[in-house]
Amino acid sequence: MTLAEKAGQLSIYSDPMRIGTRRQINPDAGPKIDNGLAQRIREGRLIGLFNGVGAAEGRALQRLAIEESRLKIPLLFGADVLHGFATVFPIPLGETASFDPGLAERTARAAAIEASANGIHWTFAPMIDIGRDQRWGRVAEGAGEDPYLGSLFAAARVRGFQGQRLSDADSLLACPKHFVGYGGAIGGMDYNSVEMSEQTLHEVYLPPFKAAFDAGALSTMSAFNDLNGVPMMAHRPLLTGLLREQWKFRGIVVSDYTADRELVMHGVARDDRDATRLAILAGVDISMQSDLYNLHLPSLVERGEVPMAVVDEAVRRVLRVKKLLGLFDNPYRSLDPVVEQRDTHTPAARSLARESARASIVLLKNEGQLLPLRKSSQKIALIGPFGADADNLAGPWSPFSDMKDAVSLEQGLRAVLRDPASLKVVKGCDPEQIIRGGLDEAVAAAKAADIVLLALGESQDMSGEAASRADILLPAVQQALAEAIVDVGKPVIVLLRNGRALALEGAVRDASAIVVTWFLGTETGNAIADVLFGDHSPSGRLPVSFPQSSGQQPFFYGHRNTGRPQTNPKDPYWKTRYRYVTHEALFPFGHGLTYSQFRYGEPEVGSGKLAWDGAITIRTKLTNIGTREAEETVQLYIHDRVASLTRPVRELKGIQKLKLAAGASRVVSFKLTRADLCFYDAAMNFIAEPGEFEVWVAPSATAGTPKVFVLEGSPLRP
Ligand code: NOJ
Repeated sequence: MTLAEKAGQLSIYSDPMRIGTRRQINPDAGPKIDNGLAQRIREGRLIGLFNGVGAAEGRALQRLAIEESRLKIPLLFGADVLHGFATVFPIPLGETASFDPGLAERTARAAAIEASANGIHWTFAPMIDIGRDQRWGRVAEGAGEDPYLGSLFAAARVRGFQGQRLSDADSLLACPKHFVGYGGAIGGMDYNSVEMSEQTLHEVYLPPFKAAFDAGALSTMSAFNDLNGVPMMAHRPLLTGLLREQWKFRGIVVSDYTADRELVMHGVARDDRDATRLAILAGVDISMQSDLYNLHLPSLVERGEVPMAVVDEAVRRVLRVKKLLGLFDNPYRSLDPVVEQRDTHTPAARSLARESARASIVLLKNEGQLLPLRKSSQKIALIGPFGADADNLAGPWSPFSDMKDAVSLEQGLRAVLRDPASLKVVKGCDPEQIIRGGLDEAVAAAKAADIVLLALGESQDMSGEAASRADILLPAVQQALAEAIVDVGKPVIVLLRNGRALALEGAVRDASAIVVTWFLGTETGNAIADVLFGDHSPSGRLPVSFPQSSGQQPFFYGHRNTGRPQTNPKDPYWKTRYRYVTHEALFPFGHGLTYSQFRYGEPEVGSGKLAWDGAITIRTKLTNIGTREAEETVQLYIHDRVASLTRPVRELKGIQKLKLAAGASRVVSFKLTRADLCFYDAAMNFIAEPGEFEVWVAPSATAGTPKVFVLEGSPLRP
């Protein structure tokens, strides 16, 4: 291969031809290759393209590479397939509320089938950044605040995307992103710098990546942010030291969009050429969109500033991944218009969209058992900007969604009501703007109804990339609408559409019932109707804590204890809290109601001793004491009572979902070993320290009373 051909295999570009009418998802940057695309392919000056879809068009481009380029290296087509393709599943944060990694594996599989049928080989997903600051818009794309839950979902999504064998025509190469720390952006502001301890990096932000690679992911994307002063695009200790040397990762590292060039803006590279040198030497194999590797790698090698061996190794990795994808055996894999037709919008995907949407819904509050609703003999007013709305169903990062047959909330409700005329729909206001006369019309509708559904929340451009918010309140106009409606005095059920945890206030917080519906995708309305009318008993749990106030951010359950925690709300002074707000969640991580009630028996911890190399079983009897069958999500948390470093007040270590009939009981058991108790000490040794541990089996991160067990062993043991 010539040096130019090698640089080509390390350069990817957004497809200039197949952008279509899609909303812009990246800045307009990089070279204009529209006219020169065919020539570029003939010259072998690209690994492939991304975010262009279509089997026939992809086939034509592939033919150029195979028949008209010197080396006949097949192109690789990538795309941001985050939560479905044409058929849209709930946003990843929402789907994580299912606390069911198996479900995420199935939706990822379905997305892979549909996306690969449309000419895609590689998805830039799953997004597995931990999100502990809800101002950060990209919380929507990930699995929330917890590293344990995040790791389960990261691995599941990788398995789903990659399928049985990477070479299968319906497998997508997974790209867990963004490596690493991106979610720790200071102030929750997208692209911002990240400052964190080595311990937090290794205990919280890295575990989902390790889980994803252990599950077989063969690519990753280096992040935009700098971490403790070193931009990730130039972070050799993590990209090469940790990833390749320690973890033995054998896949490819792609830069984020123009992120290599941004090393100049970060102020660590003098110019584009210097940025190229830093990125390739750090371990970034592929440059996305900036064109920098094509422009500068050949001369950097010729002048001895970058060893040829480094470039060769990166090219070898790319070719190996192309080989594993089966592209050398069949360059036209996943480029068959017949399969495209067959596997797009399948009934199976559609029914999975409904199942996953239902499972993602979280019932936060249900005073007086207001829910489920009856299907007849009451007048319902559906009020708010998201009642009839069809533009905000898919949620952020769904550029290939085809929502023409998607089900709005109104449509979903009408489909089940015995008398569709019993539903009156009034917008009241737009997501962020008043509608003249809207408030009066909404109040009149509330007065005429027996019950009000208030459909409030965020439009889909309020979360996602570059959509950080300085606060996480409902827009003022919606809050005003809620206050006016609640004043009418009818029972109110709030239905929230959201890409992050919100700080609920006033009439919304105090409503009798609150349901979190995230962005649920194609089957939004049907899934919400399933839950509201009791055809499906809700079982979702919060993967992010809902705070009492925006100003609490970053806020997460697994914080460390301070020297002055507030344990008694009646004694607020000189304690770790804000002036009018305690250091507590309004609705904690793990919280979510069903239409039944469960009693948790006292956990048993056997002899209360965990031998150094042994295991301990924690058992609890769970009883459905309500009147309906329901699915409970049982959570196991621990806390290290005395350690050489401060430890989180609780850490999730196990989840189990159990469906129990009314009146039924079952014993739930979890096993813990020393490995579950390890953390990074001051010298970055990953150790467990003998001593007492508290353990909870509970329905949320703040519920339950702990039992104690002892990890036996000498404190001096490594
Ligand atoms: C920028 C985003 O940060 C990344 O997640 C995405 O994969 C790329 N753009 C490509 O669209």
